[in-house]
Amino acid sequence: MTALRTERLNLRPLEWADREAYAAMRFHPDVARWLSVADRDPLAAAEATIARFQSSWKTRGYAPWGVFTDGQLIGQCGLNFVPEFEETEVLWALRPDAWGKGYATEAARAALTFGFETIQLDLIFAVTKPDNTASQAVMKRLGLVYRRDVVYREIPSVWFEISRPQ
Ligand SMILES: CC(C)(COP(=O)(O)OP(=O)(O)OC[C@H]1O[C@@H](n2cnc3c(N)ncnc32)[C@H](O)[C@@H]1OP(=O)(O)O)[C@@H](O)C(=O)NCCC(=O)NCCS
Repeated sequence: MTALRTERLNLRPLEWADREAYAAMRFHPDVARWLSVADRDPLAAAEATIARFQSSWKTRGYAPWGVFTDGQLIGQCGLNFVPEFEETEVLWALRPDAWGKGYATEAARAALTFGFETIQLDLIFAVTKPDNTASQAVMKRLGLVYRRDVVYREIPSVWFEISRPQ
């Protein structure tokens, strides 16, 4: 499992001990409205996600990281293989008190470098709801380009992507 450090952030695989902080971030109403709400108790949903990410680290060699400042979990960011598309997405979500500081772009830039240079992916995509302008702004800052509208897990979404040469 790989940990990364950027100028202001530590990215490291999520651990069991992160489950409460992760649940508070991921299922904060202002975050969940753009992703999905918990299909069960948020702590149990967080535990299932952390277990899935840990499994992906073992089998695939990558998964989203927890994003930390001063030892506090402020979000998630990283690479996630999506079987429906047989491609790898870059995803991000931050606690609302960490928005507006450039942290998502900083973390995702490190994730793209890891994806293209370390694990040699050819293409990385990102999807979000059409009205999620904050997330699309991150995509554009990173150089991802809109390609098409898709339905992702029954949600109408926009698909952005970037390839290794880009
Ligand atoms: C999507 C999300 C991560 C974007 O967060 P964000 O803070 O807007 O994005 P960044 O971290 O890249 O920060 C960019 C902002 O920080 C500002 N900023 C402040 N200091 C900065 C610095 N040192 N460096 C760079 N940008 C800085 C930028 O000007 C920009 O502000 P603006 O939005 O007013 O133009 C956040 O809205 C979120 O977690 N939403 C809920 C979950 C979600 O939607 N996830 C994506 C689903 S696909």
